[in-house]
Amino acid sequence: MSTQSLSSGSSTQVSPLSAEKILVLDFGSQYAQLIARRVREQNVFCEIIRHDLSAEKIAEKSPSGIILSGGPSSVYEEGSPKCDPKIFRLGIPVLGICYGMQLACDSLGGRVANCKTREFGRASLRIDNTTGLLSGLPPQMDVWMSHGDQVNEVSSDFAPLAATPTCPYAAVQHKTLPVYGLQFHPEVTHTPLGATILHNFLYAVCGCVGQWHLADFAQQTIEQLRERIGDQRVICGLSGGVDSAVTAALLVKAIGSQVSCILVDNGLLRKDEQAAVISEFTNHFKADLRVIKAEDQFLSALKGISEPQEKRRRIGHLFIECFKEEAAKIKGAKYLAQGTLYPDVIESGAAKDGPAATIKLHHNVGGLPEELGFELVEPLRDLFKDEVRRLGLELGLPDQLVWRHPFPGPGLAVRCLGEVTKEKLEVLREADHIVVSEIKAAGLYRQTSQVFAVLLPVQSVGVMGDARTYENAVAIRSVNTDDFMTADWSHLPYELLARMSSRIINEVRGVNRVCYDISSKPPATIEWE
Ligand code: XMP
Repeated sequence: MSTQSLSSGSSTQVSPLSAEKILVLDFGSQYAQLIARRVREQNVFCEIIRHDLSAEKIAEKSPSGIILSGGPSSVYEEGSPKCDPKIFRLGIPVLGICYGMQLACDSLGGRVANCKTREFGRASLRIDNTTGLLSGLPPQMDVWMSHGDQVNEVSSDFAPLAATPTCPYAAVQHKTLPVYGLQFHPEVTHTPLGATILHNFLYAVCGCVGQWHLADFAQQTIEQLRERIGDQRVICGLSGGVDSAVTAALLVKAIGSQVSCILVDNGLLRKDEQAAVISEFTNHFKADLRVIKAEDQFLSALKGISEPQEKRRRIGHLFIECFKEEAAKIKGAKYLAQGTLYPDVIESGAAKDGPAATIKLHHNVGGLPEELGFELVEPLRDLFKDEVRRLGLELGLPDQLVWRHPFPGPGLAVRCLGEVTKEKLEVLREADHIVVSEIKAAGLYRQTSQVFAVLLPVQSVGVMGDARTYENAVAIRSVNTDDFMTADWSHLPYELLARMSSRIINEVRGVNRVCYDISSKPPATIEWE
């Protein structure tokens, strides 16, 4: 078991209970995290690591299997990312997906070339061998392809398992080594039977038995936290979001009254949010909660500022000041708990073995600087958001908290475009409340990922009664996404949009126009600033 001692290092990484582990070598794929989630969904722990880790280091981790992710490069290009070819001879099963397959075949005597017909999208797979990796599958099935290169020739050491009309080696198996390749993506939902293939790899090929269960994880984490923290005090920042709430819940279960939570009310929260957080918190925990009322300070720091990054900088800076001041009052606190998640760890390049790929720089206002002098406790570092939600339910947190849409650290300031004022925030807060209430009333809150209102810095002409108006415009934003790095705008029913629009215009003073944002990310971002 690769359990990292909780008494060493500067942050708590609770390793999985089980010895079973799959390593995903990331070659820059947009799907690396999705692969890891799909593996965990099958009750096998999975970690993403950098692609060029040596075979010796990989062997030290004793994985049950290795998955080579896809990636945007071509294996025959100079400088394209490669893995240590010795990994194919460790005796550990390897599954190469897309670029990963091309790399495996290239390393073991195949020929990869740019294909005549690039395949993007759905393809029909003919399966010639429904045993082992492809057992339990029908002879013909839909798969999702996304490649410009493909394996055109394999050495006689490989056996083809499946093909599409344009891809002769859509699935292959090495005859003597436990090495498999798939040109298509089993991890995406557009490959409807992809989970069966991953299940076959994990259970039939790698011999996993499925030991990764969140309930065990919760119990083990609580015990490890208790052991590490002993009789010391811990400070935990609460944001109202699920990550910090689950972190607090674990701590309260582990060390009870030794944890002090701090909530900074920056005046940029949504309607009634502060009260909801306090009541959810006090109803569920018996812990010290300190609410810092700092609305005036934040509003004056934002006065005259309309540049988004400058707003973020000022909010972040003041947040740290407020937090620091309150934390200094908590005598004897040694640890600071944060709800850092696995994607944050990967995205910030701080994963245990260095960067898988720096996908996005995180603009995490809630992140507190090291100079605060605390040792970090990050019990969610190994988890994805959906796992944190399930853990929250496991710990008995209420549904409305567990399923709350994410809310950015700088809050309504980045949804009130241009200069932020108390009056504008009031308008935005009311409009946002209507949007979110209507989504909930329509039963679509759980089916959407993030829904909110944006107050635009434009006035437009309208007519109300017999009078001409010249008032604010509000945009409604609703997106669906798995990872918040790419997102689609939600195709909300017209009737729902109509209800939101007429309620906002009728009920929120100062708004005479409502628009629906139909931009996807990329190229737009989810927030407007
Ligand atoms: P974008 O706008 O980059 O947002 O597509 C992606 C996700 O990140 C959230 N977001 C932030 N979260 N501080 C945060 O803590 C920020 O400054 C920030 N900006 C965006 C956004 O709400 C979405 O969930």
